[in-house]
Amino acid sequence: MRKHTLSAICLTLAALSPLASAHQQGDWVVRGGLTTVAPDESSSNIIAGGTDLGVALTVDNNTQLGINVAYFLTDNINLELLAATPFKHDVNFSVSDPLGTGTQLGEVTHLPPSLTANYYFNDANSPFQPYVGAGVNYTIFFDEEFTGANSDAGLSDLSLDNSFGLTAQVGMDYIVDKKWHVNASVRFIDIDTDATFKVGEADGVVSDIEIDPWVYTISVGYTF
Ligand code: NI
Repeated sequence: MRKHTLSAICLTLAALSPLASAHQQGDWVVRGGLTTVAPDESSSNIIAGGTDLGVALTVDNNTQLGINVAYFLTDNINLELLAATPFKHDVNFSVSDPLGTGTQLGEVTHLPPSLTANYYFNDANSPFQPYVGAGVNYTIFFDEEFTGANSDAGLSDLSLDNSFGLTAQVGMDYIVDKKWHVNASVRFIDIDTDATFKVGEADGVVSDIEIDPWVYTISVGYTF
C-alpha cells in the first residue's frame, strides 16, 4: 500500500515538473530585463587650458532596460548580442566642488552593444544552466554635456571618444519550462576613452578615462 502511494507521488511529481530541458542547437533566445552599469572608473586629472586642475573624474551607476538575443550554434555554444536603452551617467569631480560650480561636472549617455560567445556546461538533468563567455564591446558616447553651472563658468563642447574593447561574463539560466527561463549574468567590459572640451577659447582634456564597468543583468528569457 505504502509502496503504491510513493510511486503515485513520484508519477504525479514527474507529470507536474517536466524534465528540465537544456538549450539545444538552433535555439533562438530573447531576453528582457534590467541591466545596471556600475563603473569602476579612474582617469587622469582634468587639464584645462594647459593647467592641471588636480582633479579627476568619477562616474555614477545607471540602470536601464536590457535586451539580448542569442543563437545556439551547438548545444553548448551560443552567440549573444547585448543591447539596452541608452545609459545616462552623472560625471562628477573626484573632489567636492573644486571650481565653485557644484560637485557634478556633467552627464554622458552611451550605448554599449556587446557580442559574446558563451559556453554552456549543459547538464541536461538540472534546471540551472551556467555559462561563461567572452567577446567584444563597442561603446558609443553621445549627448555629452556640462551642467548649467559649468557651462556658465565657460566650459563647452564636451566630447568623449567611442571605445572598442573586450568583455567577459559569467551567467546562468534557470529553466522554468521548455519556453521560459530566468537569467542572471555579471559582465566586465573594458571601456576606455578620452574627453575633450573647451574652456573659453582654450582646449581642455581628460585622458585615459577607464570606465571599465561591471554590468549586472537580471532578465526573463524565451526560447523560440
Ligand atoms: Ni580599461
